Order: sequence, then structure tokens, then C-alpha cells
Amino acid sequence: MDMTATYTLNNGYKIPVVGFGTIIPDGPDTVKAVKDAIKSGYRLIDTAEAYGNEVSVGQGIREAIVENGLQRSDVLVSTKAWFTHRGYEGTVKAFNDSLARLDLDYVDVYLIHWPANAKWHDDWRELNADTWRALEDLYKAGKIKAIGVSNFLDHHLQALIEDTEIKPMLDQIEYHPGFAQTATAEFAQANDIQVEAWSPFGGPDSNVLTEATVNQIATKYGKQPGQVILRWVIQKQIIPLTKSVSPAHMAANLDDFDFSLTDEEMAAIDAAPFSGGMQFDPDTAQS
Ligand SMILES: NC(=O)c1ccc[n+]([C@@H]2O[C@H](COP(=O)([O-])OP(=O)(O)OC[C@H]3O[C@@H](n4cnc5c(N)ncnc54)[C@H](OP(=O)(O)O)[C@@H]3O)[C@@H](O)[C@H]2O)c1
Repeated sequence: MDMTATYTLNNGYKIPVVGFGTIIPDGPDTVKAVKDAIKSGYRLIDTAEAYGNEVSVGQGIREAIVENGLQRSDVLVSTKAWFTHRGYEGTVKAFNDSLARLDLDYVDVYLIHWPANAKWHDDWRELNADTWRALEDLYKAGKIKAIGVSNFLDHHLQALIEDTEIKPMLDQIEYHPGFAQTATAEFAQANDIQVEAWSPFGGPDSNVLTEATVNQIATKYGKQPGQVILRWVIQKQIIPLTKSVSPAHMAANLDDFDFSLTDEEMAAIDAAPFSGGMQFDPDTAQS
């Protein structure tokens, strides 16, 4: 496997094994980062309405396609419906608004950003199912190539599978050393739902990259701590989504395919203590 490898989703659509995240302020910084990322070799670009930068992400993708001699089908874009749009009509509108901001003909991956949860919504199952039906219809209309969810825990996934027609193809969850949502990841994988890892480095303000176990293993292989973390994610058949505005970091984050972690090293990172990250709980988060 190398950075050009793909996983096949449960609907047959192929998705790169690594992706690029775009929590970057809207404007030239996002356009540049997306273009630099695609030039570096990223072929999966993750954004969301909530990041407020779909216009710049779309511009970066369109310009990078031209400048690198690519086809639209060479670059996958993923965006997400924010929780304020829950329900069928609101989600259809949210999707069409995202598509207009991206200024693309279709979206590759569209996700429900957060589940309605039982703490805040008595009708959480119905809300999630109604929202999902909008994604199903947009998918059937060919406007989206693959549909999925984000921050759904195993029981949110189970309910959605029971209540709706099309099984989600992806679940994007917070996943990094010290906070790997293992039960959800294992449930998703057992149900042929591709897992994506958000904040694999714990985000901008964590100590995940300086965690001791990760750094000991990095020293052994002559790799950077971030490369060890991404290797750990990749060996779990999970897609890491790293964000960077630095071309050097972008390149480093793609250089994860010339070494392998042993079972013992994988287990040691599994057992690493919490060292930062959002640690959101989708069962209690107000959304
Ligand atoms: N679905 C959700 O609810 C959700 C929530 C959060 C995030 N996400 C997605 O996941 C993506 C990634 O998460 P994230 O943006 O929170 O953070 P992240 O990728 O875990 O970490 C980004 C931080 O790490 C630094 N960094 C990146 N590569 C590095 C390297 N090789 N060496 C040292 N530092 C490095 C970045 O700085 P530089 O920019 O200076 O390199 C930045 O400060 C997001 O952009 C977004 O697409 C989704």
C-alpha cells in the first residue's frame, strides 16, 4: 500500500487511504493549503459547512485540478451538514448551499456532522433518520457519490441502520492516541462502514505529538512522531485526516508507507494515556 491506495466503500466507491483536513480560516490561506495539499499528493479533501470555508476549498480544488493536469474525478471532496439543518428539507437545502459554495458539479462524500442525541432530543432517532433520508435521496439523484455520518457512536449507527434504507458508507470520528473511540470503530468496521479519523494529532493545541510511547517508537524507526501516529491509524484500516498549512508537514504526513508497526507497538499506542484533543462526547454534546 502507498498513498495512492484506496479503500472500496460498501457502495463500491473508492476513497483514498489518507485525506487532508481543512479547519483553516476562509480565504487565501485555505485556497493555498488545498492547492499545496493536492500538489503534495492528497486526493481527499475534507471540509464542512461549519468550517466556513467551502468557497475557498472549492476554489483551491478547481485551481489545483487545472494546474496539476488532473480530472475532477481524481480529487474527492467531502463536506458535512451542520446540526442546525436537521430534518429532510433543511438538509436538502444545506447540501445545495454547500454545493453552490464549493462551485462543483457534485460532492464525493456528504456526512451528517453530528448525531441528534438522547440527552438533547427525545426524538433523536427520528431526527437522524429524517436527516439521513435527505442524504439517501441526494445520493440516488447522483449529486453525492457516497453518504455517511460523523461523530455517530455505535448505538447511533445501529439505530440509523435499523431505521433507514441505505447503510452509511463512512463514519468520521475523533480518533488519536489517548482517545481512540474503539467500540465505535470496531462496530463500524464489522458493519462495512469505513472509519475516518479526525484530529489524528489531537488538533492544534494538544500534546499528542509529544506523547512518550509514540516518540519512543518514532526514534526506533527514524520517523517523525506524526508519521508513527498516522501509521497506527492506517494499520487499523482507518483513514487519517490531517490538517496542515505547511507543505513540509503535508509531505511528511504522506510519508507513512515505508515502515510497519508490530502488534506490540500497535497495542502500546492503543494504551497511550490521554494527552490532549477535543474529547467530545456525542452522547452529551449539545447539538
Ligand atoms: N467531523 C468532525 O467533527 C471534525 C472535527 C474536527 C476535525 N475534523 C477534520 O479533521 C481534520 C484534522 O483535524 P484537526 O484540524 O483538528 O487537527 P490535526 O490534523 O489533528 O492537527 C493539526 C495540527 O497539527 C499540526 N501538524 C500537522 N502536521 C504536522 C506535522 N507533520 N508535524 C508537526 N505538526 C503538524 C498542524 O500545524 P501546521 O498547520 O502548522 O502544520 C496543526 O496545528 C480537520 O481539519 C477536519 O477536516 C472533523
